Amino acid sequence: MSNSLTPQKIATRGGNALKGTLKVPGDKSISHRSLMFGALAIGQTRIHGLLESEDVIGTANAMNAVGAVCERREDGSWTVDGVGLGSLLEPIAPIDFGNAGTGARLCMGIFAAHPISVMMIGDASLSGRPMGRVLNPLREMGLEVIARQGDRLPAAIRGSDAPAPMTYRVPMASAQVKSAVLLAGLNTPGTTTVIEPVATRDHTEKMLKGFGADLSVEINEAGERVITLQGQPKLSAQEVVVPGDPSSAAFPIVAALITPGSEITVENVLLNEHRIGLITTLLEMGADISISNERESGGEKIGDITARHSQLKGVTVPAERAPAMIDEYPILAIAAAFAQGETVMLGLDELRVKESDRLAAVARGLEANNIPCVEGEDTLTVTGGANNIGGGTVVTHLDHRIAMSFLVLGLAAHKPVAVDDAAPIATSFPTFLELVGTLGGEINDLSEEAA
Ligand code: S3P
Repeated sequence: MSNSLTPQKIATRGGNALKGTLKVPGDKSISHRSLMFGALAIGQTRIHGLLESEDVIGTANAMNAVGAVCERREDGSWTVDGVGLGSLLEPIAPIDFGNAGTGARLCMGIFAAHPISVMMIGDASLSGRPMGRVLNPLREMGLEVIARQGDRLPAAIRGSDAPAPMTYRVPMASAQVKSAVLLAGLNTPGTTTVIEPVATRDHTEKMLKGFGADLSVEINEAGERVITLQGQPKLSAQEVVVPGDPSSAAFPIVAALITPGSEITVENVLLNEHRIGLITTLLEMGADISISNERESGGEKIGDITARHSQLKGVTVPAERAPAMIDEYPILAIAAAFAQGETVMLGLDELRVKESDRLAAVARGLEANNIPCVEGEDTLTVTGGANNIGGGTVVTHLDHRIAMSFLVLGLAAHKPVAVDDAAPIATSFPTFLELVGTLGGEINDLSEEAA
C-alpha cells in the first residue's frame, strides 16, 4: 500500500497562475462508510462516485474478507452485496488497513459485536497511531484484544457473541471513536448511547439512518449531542451518491488563493456543516471565495466553490472550530504563510495523532521553507509574508495531507518546494498531481535524482 519501498520525491515551483474548473474525488469518510454499511445490509448497495484511493480500497478488501462482495462495475460505480448484520464471516488471513485510521477504527467497531477473530495490521503510520481510544469502549462491550504495546496495531481481536450495550461519553473530539461505538451497538441487543460533548462529522448517524437503523440525535441540557441507537435493526441496501471531498477540495482552493492571477472552481463539493470550517476561516482571512449551485443530494448539502487569488490577512482560529476542519490545518498553515500578519491556530491536540504528528510535521516543513512559525503544545502560530519562501525539502512521514499541502506551497513560493515522498497521496487523492498539472501548476519528479 502506501509504504512503497521507492519514495516518490516531487517538487513544485511557482510562476504559473492556476485556472480551470475541476472535480475532486469522492468524500473519503462517506466512501468508507458506504462500503461498510453496504456490507452490513441485506441486498445490493450501489455506490456512485466512490473514492477509489488506497484507504478506501482497503476497506472494500476488508469487507470482502468478512463475506461481502464489493465490486467495481464497468460504468465506474461500485456494488456491495451485503453479508448482513450478524452474519460476518471470520477472515482467513490478516486484514491490512494500510494507512487508514477510519478503515481500521470503524471496522474494529463492526467486528467487536460479531463472534469472529481478526488479525488487523497497517502500515508504519497506522501502526504508530493510538487504538486504545476505540478499543477501550469496545472492550466494555465485550471485545477481546491482544495488541502491540500501547494498544497499537498489529492487533488480534475477538468480537463478542453476546455484546453488551453501553452509554459512552466520547472523551476527545473524534468521529472515529463515536462511530466505532455506534457500529458495535448495531449488532448489540438493546440501546447504545453515545454522548458527544463536542460535535464531530455526522456521516455515521446520517448514513445509518438512511440504511434503516433506528437512531436519533438530541441535544441535552449541557449542549451535548446524544445519539441513541437501537440494536439489531434490519439494514437494507441503498443507492449512495458520494459528493466531492471538501478535504481534498481544500488543496486547489488554497492553491488558487495564494497564487497570483488564479481562479478555479471545484464542482460538486460536500458542504456538510461539520466539514467546512476551513471555508469559514478562509473567508475571515479575506479570501475571495464564492459558493454557487447549492443543492441537496442524499441528505447532504453540496455546491460548487470558486476561489480567486486574494490578499489574505492573519486571524485567530478558535479551538471550537477544530472538529469542523481537523484535516485542514496543514493546508491552512500554507494559506497563513501568504497572509499579512499572524495566524494563530488553537486547540490542535488531535493533530498530534493523525497520519503523522501533523503539528510537528507542518512546523518543520514551514521552517524548512523559511516561513516563521511557533509550535506550541496544541497551537501553531504562522507569520505570513516572508520574502524568501521555499527552497526546502519536506519530510512527509507517510502523511498524504503533509505532502499535498507543501506541494501547494511550492506553486506560490519564491523557490521550488520538494516533498521527500508523494506516494502517500494515493491514500486519499490519487488524481492530485494530475489535477494540479491540469490547472497549470508545474511539477517535477525528482525520484530519479533521489535514487
Ligand atoms: C474521520 C474522522 C476524523 C478525520 C479522518 C476521517 C472519519 O478523525 O481526521 O480523516 O471519517 O470519521 P478523528 O475521528 O480521529 O478525528
